[in-house]
Amino acid sequence: MTTKISKVNLHPASCKYLKLGHPWITEDTYTARFPKNDFFLIGVDEKNRQEIALLINDPLHKNVKARLWSLNPEDWKTTPDFKAELEIRIKNSIERRIKANLSSERDNYYLINAESDFLPGLLVLKLKNQILIQYYALFWKKVELDLLEVLQAQIKNLFPDFVLEDIWIQERNFNQSKSIRSMNGKTHADFVLKEFGINYQIRLNENYDFGIYTDMSAIRNQMRSYLEKSQSLLNLFSYTGAFSLYTLKLGAKNIVSVDLSSKYLNWLEENIALNPDLNPELHSSLCMPSEKAMEKLISEQIKFEAIICDPPSASSDGSTTSSALKSYEKLLPLMLKLLATNGSLFVFLNTHTISWNKFEEKLSLIIATTEFANKINIGKRFKLSEDCLPLKGFHEGDYLKGFLIDFKNKGI
Ligand SMILES: C[S@@+](CC[C@H](N)C(=O)[O-])C[C@H]1O[C@@H](n2cnc3c(N)ncnc32)[C@H](O)[C@@H]1O
Repeated sequence: MTTKISKVNLHPASCKYLKLGHPWITEDTYTARFPKNDFFLIGVDEKNRQEIALLINDPLHKNVKARLWSLNPEDWKTTPDFKAELEIRIKNSIERRIKANLSSERDNYYLINAESDFLPGLLVLKLKNQILIQYYALFWKKVELDLLEVLQAQIKNLFPDFVLEDIWIQERNFNQSKSIRSMNGKTHADFVLKEFGINYQIRLNENYDFGIYTDMSAIRNQMRSYLEKSQSLLNLFSYTGAFSLYTLKLGAKNIVSVDLSSKYLNWLEENIALNPDLNPELHSSLCMPSEKAMEKLISEQIKFEAIICDPPSASSDGSTTSSALKSYEKLLPLMLKLLATNGSLFVFLNTHTISWNKFEEKLSLIIATTEFANKINIGKRFKLSEDCLPLKGFHEGDYLKGFLIDFKNKGI
């Protein structure tokens, strides 16, 4: 690259972890010497005389001081500039999705999945004819014009038939406030997209999230073989009902969706109405906390062949807020009571701060306190995959964790 780039020595431990595959540098005595205004930095591993390219100065993550751009000097010494290298990475990333033929099954998928596509802190979603850029690291704002230019050119080049309506930019934040703008200066966009043959209403910029969680799409696909065997589903924390509609489409005859929000449940019913092949009579909604809904269903002696539980990382029942892991202490015993003996229970956790093992251990401990101790399997794991595959060694990217729970003696 031609412009003058600062060089700063890195902590030996940072160098070690970067080389082991963890692509972040957190605060230490060495990071205090990073320049305050630059976007690009060469970190030096003094011991091995190696130079490492980093992206720096992201005000969103106070503790993450740098994200790896490259361990390979060719990436910045032989490419003419940052924009040229950006173009190569964006092209590779989009080509991987085209090769996976994701568009044959869904209008919504990730074109760029941050660290795993070597574009740290940058997510880009294709949502039918709209593109949504999500910055998880705000240093991208500094090169926004280059990013937009390259992205638009690559989309035009790689999807020649695609009619791009607009590009939206959302700065992710931790207080769930809306911060989204459109290239065409629009304030919002309402449109319908298809995932696995089902129509969903999307509303960009009405809420923080826009109507469907695309990181769950590949997981829905993984769950298909279980859900198509299920005649009934209890969908807890249903949001706009992607799992409810998916299971309805697969042939279930009784679906109950539970959510605290009447707005999302109305949206769910609107989604059902967008699909004339789905029978709304087979679906009902309970607008109340999941715990309360389960107590009601237990008193009615109803059983479900599938139960899905996907709580937000901090769930609120209107009066208290508790972490999702802790909420399983109350939720799991109730779900076991509602699970048919031939049924499948899917429990999810949406945070990178709790490991797979810790989640599994907690589920085992809770099960051991119930009347179902020794009768239950904790089995298959449902992980981010396809367009959202996390980078090996980067546990922060492996934030969505699901387990299948079922009875050891099925159907007895
Ligand atoms: C992470 S979203 C679930 C996403 C959904 N499983 C999907 O894939 O589309 C969490 C949902 O839980 C709801 N919620 C939060 N606390 C709740 C509670 N205590 N009981 C029921 N729903 C709750 C929110 O309104 C929100 O719709």
